[in-house]
Amino acid sequence: MINDKKVLFSGMQATGNLTLGNYLGALKNWITLSDEYECFYSVVDMHSITVRQDPATLRKRARNLLTLYISAGLDPEKNCIYYQSHVSGHAELAWILNCFTYMGELNRMTQFKDKAAKHADNINAGLFTYPVLMAADILLYQTDVVPVGIDQMQHLELTRNIAERFNNIYGDVFTVPEAYIGKVGAKIMSLQDPTKKMSKSDENPNGSIYLMDDADTVMRKCKRAVTDSEGCIRYTDEQPGLKNLINIYCACSGKTADEAVKEFEGQGYGVFKEAVGESVNAILQPLQAKMKELEKEKGYIDKIIKENAEKAQYYANKTLRKVQKKVGFPERPRI
Ligand code: TYM
Repeated sequence: MINDKKVLFSGMQATGNLTLGNYLGALKNWITLSDEYECFYSVVDMHSITVRQDPATLRKRARNLLTLYISAGLDPEKNCIYYQSHVSGHAELAWILNCFTYMGELNRMTQFKDKAAKHADNINAGLFTYPVLMAADILLYQTDVVPVGIDQMQHLELTRNIAERFNNIYGDVFTVPEAYIGKVGAKIMSLQDPTKKMSKSDENPNGSIYLMDDADTVMRKCKRAVTDSEGCIRYTDEQPGLKNLINIYCACSGKTADEAVKEFEGQGYGVFKEAVGESVNAILQPLQAKMKELEKEKGYIDKIIKENAEKAQYYANKTLRKVQKKVGFPERPRI
């Protein structure tokens, strides 16, 4: 607990162009939960270098992502929005947790297998221990809840296992976190292949709606989305493309699937796809406008970065010192 509130932690990688999946699966829920919890929202730039990055591009993307968090509606005076690399405790705790994580556990991680297949020329140790750094992110703040999309569930289960294992040995050191998965939008699929998740790294740009896509591009991508030849608007696994579009529509408009199906009863896919495009644009247009405004406020963003890094470091150190003592590191002299 911090300030009598439970703690929330989540983060996003500053790699590639963020998609509507990132927004609907994560960011949207962050905003909903931000009043109720003491929140830490990190730009996880240390995770990003598990695949090769161009330094200048990574720095720019990290700054954009941090600005995006604020543009989406997270108040940086209340929520701790910061760069992971600015708080050394993440790496320090990750090292300790590495020693409490088994190779077998990491070998089972599907994200590692996918990324190793994609980057066969660079299967580095960081990519392998990526989930341990993620566990450190979460456990460092004694986090109660972690809002993520479904694709991060396996990492979260591992985090819980590591926390429980550590607690079993040393007593109640870590809060064991729970995942928060939104009711709609937890797994947005590609518009071109509804069996694959919408992803930043998709080679086909028409499969993903990027948060910075202009209104016409969003509409074009929605109209081109792969559906089926049934011609009837229903919410069923047998029509996965349509189901995905209904999920997007519901997550953007706040309607339920039943309401959406009723609204478009007897109408063609064309009309529905246009409504999906409009519902997405109703979210992305104001977000992009706010981004443009904030990008000009250099001094303000710099101040947020500094103050929030200090705040995060303060809470991170509290946990870190406790853990270091538990595992037997010598006490530090006061400097
Ligand atoms: P990342 O950067 O890949 O994705 C950020 C968030 O977006 C969600 N997401 C989706 N949700 C629904 N549909 C999709 N198609 C979709 N694609 C992505 C992800 O589930 C995630 O919530 N390892 C994490 C970053 C991370 C983290 C953490 C998250 C590092 N440390 C600690 C939570 C807590 C990642 O790569 O997310």
